[in-house]
Amino acid sequence: MEFPAELIRFLKKADRVSVLTGAGASQESGLRTFRDAQSGLWAQYKPQDLASPEAFASDPKLVWDWYAWRREAIKGVRPNPGHYALVEMENRTPSFTLITQNVDGLHRFAGSRNVLELHGNILRVRCADCGTFAEEWGDDTESVPRCGKCNGLLRPDVVWFGEALPRAELESAVVAARQSQVFFSIGTSGVVQPAAALAHAARNNGSVVVEINAEPTPLTPKADFAFHGKSGEILPELVKAVWGI
Ligand code: APR
Repeated sequence: MEFPAELIRFLKKADRVSVLTGAGASQESGLRTFRDAQSGLWAQYKPQDLASPEAFASDPKLVWDWYAWRREAIKGVRPNPGHYALVEMENRTPSFTLITQNVDGLHRFAGSRNVLELHGNILRVRCADCGTFAEEWGDDTESVPRCGKCNGLLRPDVVWFGEALPRAELESAVVAARQSQVFFSIGTSGVVQPAAALAHAARNNGSVVVEINAEPTPLTPKADFAFHGKSGEILPELVKAVWGI
């Protein structure tokens, strides 16, 4: 793919780059999106029946089992070339922030260091009552595992429908977006907040906005540069075009 010389120049000299990723960034790792993952047994449930505080209150075992099943699926999944290209970008940019809506942990797995997980991480588990993180729990029991400290029910450390995003992460993400000189929106439909808001915060503060997505999104007309295709192919090519690696 040919990249505009202007974009290559911007990236070469940028001190501050921020990246927002969504489900599309993990697609080439073979990870199905939340909605696609609802196949087979799980197809009969609406997302809100599996991923909301109300669902957990009324049927904690159902919700626990759904996440246990997804956690197992994630264990066999590896980062794709797009994840690794973002590690290279971080290595060459003085101030780099990776903001992700993905809960799969693949950016850290690939080696990204400054990662803000806006929707939590499915591999972490915490007490629904006291918030203590659990390092170990049994998955083979008949009931939902309980907190070793207060005996509350354990839940995945992810943001459910109707729940607020983690405040510290969100605030850092907004600052990173505002301060960026180049802001990437990668593999996210941009319809779920705060994705759209972050791109606009970057743009309103003078950042160059770059979109990489399989298809056009509501952000496309507002982006300075938009590339349509797979992030696992476009990102490595871009890194090569800018830094020759
Ligand atoms: N490369 C680049 N983009 C891709 C690829 C790919 N290989 N495959 C798919 N896409 C794009 C799709 O075109 C789509 O625009 O990724 C986007 C994925 O959009 P969503 O499924 O809406 O994912 P996301 O934007 O992350 O959703 C935000 O909504 O369901 C909740 O909590 C969930 O974190 C998720 C949030």
